[in-house]
Amino acid sequence: MTDLPNTIRGPARAGSVLLPPVAAPRSAHNAPSARTTMVVPIRSLGEGHRQRIAGHLLALSPHDRYLRFGFSAGDAHIQNYVAGLNFDRDDIFGIYNRKLELIAMAHLAYSVSPEFKACAEFGVSVRAKARGRGFGARLFERATIHARNEGVELLFVHALSENTAMLKIARNAGAVVERDGSEAEAFLRLPEATLDSRVSEMVAEQLAQTDYQFKAQAKQFWGLLGALQKARNGGA
Ligand SMILES: CC(C)(COP(=O)(O)OP(=O)(O)OC[C@H]1O[C@@H](n2cnc3c(N)ncnc32)[C@H](O)[C@@H]1OP(=O)(O)O)[C@@H](O)C(=O)NCCC(=O)NCCS
Repeated sequence: MTDLPNTIRGPARAGSVLLPPVAAPRSAHNAPSARTTMVVPIRSLGEGHRQRIAGHLLALSPHDRYLRFGFSAGDAHIQNYVAGLNFDRDDIFGIYNRKLELIAMAHLAYSVSPEFKACAEFGVSVRAKARGRGFGARLFERATIHARNEGVELLFVHALSENTAMLKIARNAGAVVERDGSEAEAFLRLPEATLDSRVSEMVAEQLAQTDYQFKAQAKQFWGLLGALQKARNGGA
């Protein structure tokens, strides 16, 4: 959850690029899967994506909002959170489907206190229908590589103890999870950045940007074809 904590601000491929990510949903949540090797185009989001971020978050159910923000966030809270996103200070990552709908997003919120400048907090949400395909885990992975390259040493996730999926993502990545009643705090110690971690991130971002451009072009092209077809039918 990234829900405006004190120290950390911020309501803290394989396959065709024209197709949505190809991972199949899993039937059993505790079955090991090959998704760890799945490549998902995850791009960083900027100012131009604010409206889609709002759309994604507003579409979350009340329970998901509770899990994501740690309280029953109403529409107004979400609008405020989105309006307050600072793309210069924090990093936001997203996964788009081929209709250019934002199906998953993560917020990496950096500490605003100088004494905790090596700390960041991670918050994530995946559209209900897209869950169980590894998107949450991939976003966490992407955020950790980026955080590491930014000099972050400790990555925090604040989650409710009932949030099995989120805690699993954190644990699988090697985070230490400390439960305190209905809440849990997970923290992951990140290694120093290396040339490899920097290059991996650059390649991943480039792939995701290219994927997004292809999807945007494909969407426009299908729109154009649809309009032509309509005009032909109208003229017939
Ligand atoms: C938490 C959330 C992001 C997980 O997204 P996801 O894309 O479904 O997660 P993944 O598919 O990557 O699964 C990650 C792990 O959790 C497990 N998992 C997923 N859903 C689960 C569930 N309902 N119960 C138990 N385990 C679950 C998966 O099996 C996987 O573990 P594995 O790799 O060891 O098999 C998603 O459920 C969500 O958006 N929830 C609402 C918002 C929220 O809770 N945010 C987190 C707080 S910041």
